[in-house]
Amino acid sequence: MEQNTLELPKIYDEASDFMPILGTDYIEFYVSNSKQAAHFYKSAMGFNSLAYAGLETGNRESESYVVSQDKIKFVFTSPLKSGTEIGRHIDKHGDGVKVTALWVPDATYAYNTAIEKGARSFMEPREESDENGKVVRSGIYTYGEVVHIFVERNEYNGVFLPGFRKWDTHYKADPIGLKYVDHMVGNVELGAMNKWVKFYEEVLGFAQILSFDDNDISTEYTALMSKVMSNGNGRIKFPINEPAEGLKKSQVDEYLDFYEGAGVQHIAMATDNIIETVTALKNRGVEFLNIPSTYYDVLEERVGPIDEDVQPLKDLGILVDRDDEGYLLQIFTKTVQARPTMFFEIIQRKGAQSFGKGNFKALFEAIEREQELRGTL
Ligand code: FE2
Repeated sequence: MEQNTLELPKIYDEASDFMPILGTDYIEFYVSNSKQAAHFYKSAMGFNSLAYAGLETGNRESESYVVSQDKIKFVFTSPLKSGTEIGRHIDKHGDGVKVTALWVPDATYAYNTAIEKGARSFMEPREESDENGKVVRSGIYTYGEVVHIFVERNEYNGVFLPGFRKWDTHYKADPIGLKYVDHMVGNVELGAMNKWVKFYEEVLGFAQILSFDDNDISTEYTALMSKVMSNGNGRIKFPINEPAEGLKKSQVDEYLDFYEGAGVQHIAMATDNIIETVTALKNRGVEFLNIPSTYYDVLEERVGPIDEDVQPLKDLGILVDRDDEGYLLQIFTKTVQARPTMFFEIIQRKGAQSFGKGNFKALFEAIEREQELRGTL
């Protein structure tokens, strides 16, 4: 059985990183109703209108609404007619993440390097321009039908990308403190995790920083295995899960069944004040997994002293975990579309760079209670 490994953080050597990535650029979801989806992210999750492309900008095929909050940009795209690739994707998977765009200094170099190292092409380097400058984009496939698009935008001053115009609405959401994408987790098929670990190592120059096996991540019913991949400068973290044998169907199996394949399971967004952020999300109707109050009886015993009062954490259902470097607070939403597939995590890091291993049992038991209600356990 594989042992858990927490590798010592290596000093980032920019010169030896063959795939420099500056950060997450945007995440694009293919959804059945982009206009309404965008409004949910505004009214419920504190995002604001940023950009639009569709009939009014000369796009007859699809319509996209872009919302942003601090560094996070989400794009919601729907087809405008039948028989499109986007429509086929939605028919198969339901609403879900299609693109994780990575902000790079050179999208042509990134593409050529990735292809040379074995990536499958999604989009050859393409220069797009308007009166605000030019952008170069290219893309490769990762697990399932998810793609990484490389975005080079150092010569662009427009609101989002060429082809989009500013989207202004009279409704302005009060931001709720979401700052950036902390990590994005993929679920892959049984036996496929190591293949994708290798893909991120070889094609994108990532390193494995953590691994969990079914001794860490198991309850009476659920088991899964996970490896966390990080790029050189640590700004991009992609944990990859695969199901493991359990007594009943695991949450990863449920995802794979309903998504009909591998895909993005959750996106973790960082805040500097999780109590304020989660209070605001709950007030706007966002639903979170319920954690039994007994979790909090032994909290301080388990994680030691923390800055926060336990009562508001208990009231909101926020989880706490500690590692060698500090602690973290985290909470998970229920799934956010018709199919029980994707959900969000809200995370506040106070030194800890890990992913809340100490919370897996409480968390998975909470997920199993939801599965039970769906009849999918
Ligand atoms: Fe997470």
